[in-house]
Amino acid sequence: MNLAVAFAFVFLTTVAPWRVRSQEQRLLVNMTLVPNARASRALCLDGSLPAYHLHRGFGAGQDNWLLQFEGGGWCNDLTSCLERAKTRRGSTRYMTKWEVFSGILSNNATLNPDFYNWNRVKLRYCDGASFTGDAVFSNRTTTLYFKGQKIWEAIIRDLLPQGLGKARKALLSGCSAGGLATFHHCDDFAKYLPKNASVKCLSDAGFFLDERDISLNHTMRYFVKSLVQLQGIEQNLNRNCTRALYFPDLCFFPQYALRYISTPYFILNSAYDVYQFHHILVPPSADMHGHWNRCKLNPAECTPAQINTLQGFRLHMLAALRPFYMNSRIGGMFINSCFAHCQSELQETWFGADSPTINEKTIAEAVGDWYFSRDRTKKIDCAYPCDATCHNLIP
Ligand SMILES: *[C@@H]1O[C@H](CO)[C@@H](O)[C@H](O)[C@H]1NC(C)=O
Ligand SMILES: *[C@@H]1O[C@H](CO)[C@@H](O)[C@H](O)[C@H]1NC(C)=O
Ligand SMILES: *[C@@H]1O[C@H](CO)[C@@H](O)[C@H](O)[C@H]1NC(C)=O
Ligand SMILES: *[C@@H]1O[C@H](CO)[C@@H](O)[C@H](O)[C@H]1NC(C)=O
Ligand SMILES: *[C@@H]1O[C@H](CO)[C@@H](O)[C@H](O)[C@H]1NC(C)=O
Ligand SMILES: *[C@@H]1O[C@H](CO)[C@@H](O)[C@H](O)[C@H]1NC(C)=O
Repeated sequence: MNLAVAFAFVFLTTVAPWRVRSQEQRLLVNMTLVPNARASRALCLDGSLPAYHLHRGFGAGQDNWLLQFEGGGWCNDLTSCLERAKTRRGSTRYMTKWEVFSGILSNNATLNPDFYNWNRVKLRYCDGASFTGDAVFSNRTTTLYFKGQKIWEAIIRDLLPQGLGKARKALLSGCSAGGLATFHHCDDFAKYLPKNASVKCLSDAGFFLDERDISLNHTMRYFVKSLVQLQGIEQNLNRNCTRALYFPDLCFFPQYALRYISTPYFILNSAYDVYQFHHILVPPSADMHGHWNRCKLNPAECTPAQINTLQGFRLHMLAALRPFYMNSRIGGMFINSCFAHCQSELQETWFGADSPTINEKTIAEAVGDWYFSRDRTKKIDCAYPCDATCHNLIP
């Protein structure tokens, strides 16, 4: 099953024209392949070289580094991974060579006040397991590389001599499957950098819940278990977490791994994350008759019972975040109530006159205040439909 691909395509084609319209001067950044990755077999699903896009920092930001994992679902069986290997989600051969840097990646101080002059890197996603796998499948006709963990290491090794190794400030971020990747590499990232550097991590729409679907099936949990097994992930999960849990593969879920992470974290997520709504809470397999189709397309069309179910999902997310909310002195959060998925990469949701806010603070301001310790920033929105600042980005 290729959880995500269909959704990701629809999502991107829906928002892309809008993004283009509203940004007069788009920053396009060139792709860099990582030739040294071949030695450690740190390859994309199809065996192509991994890649990143780097835009140099300047002025006061020239020693600061923002790394951003690209997202795009996962593949958890041979069939879906073989399919993926023939697309931009599994091979750098099919990727766009120039990427738009907007939102948190923008180089314009008006659009991205705290990070515009940092070195900013987008890590391309081509392994299908949030940069955590380490395995190879091979028979007489086919080879598939499940090497996300090695790709991460190869890219970091490539960046260290380019200045990352002397970073003064750093932020590891990512959205969706890329947001999930931050949870599994945050402490690791800090270890590569100077001891006196300020290192923090930001997950955008990466807090995927271990939640039962509306038919009470553990659809997501089964999906994750098969993914962890196929791609050889367990060995790369946080050891303190895997030692503590009876089912160590559950440490792939942020809600179990989070308490074992010591680096400062910011968790940005919608409590009605559209991806989780459509694939975890109401996957097609749990709604064979399509009772949810209208509600999925427009929250205003949901029945009261459906809204109740969605409110239950929100409460479960808040419950999973409660220990972090209560105990983490160094953490930040922004859990809003918009029907969205990924809010830091799009200018419209990151920082603009009509961007989403909680208590009149935009996401860019909340993240910046947290990173630079200007303000306490753990924000939880009131429940749907109270928030009038939403961009409901439904595919
Ligand atoms: C883009 O990057 C590639 C590889 O890093 C390089 O060979 C090429 O010259 C670059 N192109 C431009 C226009 O910068
Ligand atoms: C930065 O963005 C603002 C607002 O969109 C725009 O007016 C300005 O021209 C941009 N500056 C540069 C250098 O692109
Ligand atoms: C190799 O594995 C792939 C994926 O399971 C399968 O489609 C193919 O038939 C296999 N080839 C051989 C020769 O067994
Ligand atoms: C960290 O220490 C190095 C070596 O002493 C020094 O050059 C650098 O400026 C320090 N960085 C910060 C952020 O203080
Ligand atoms: C529950 O989900 C799993 C994984 O998608 C599936 O294999 C199984 O058939 C489902 N069970 C029910 C009762 O729907
Ligand atoms: C596990 O916990 C111990 C004690 O808190 C800590 O020293 C160690 O770094 C942790 N290991 C990992 C992989 O986080």
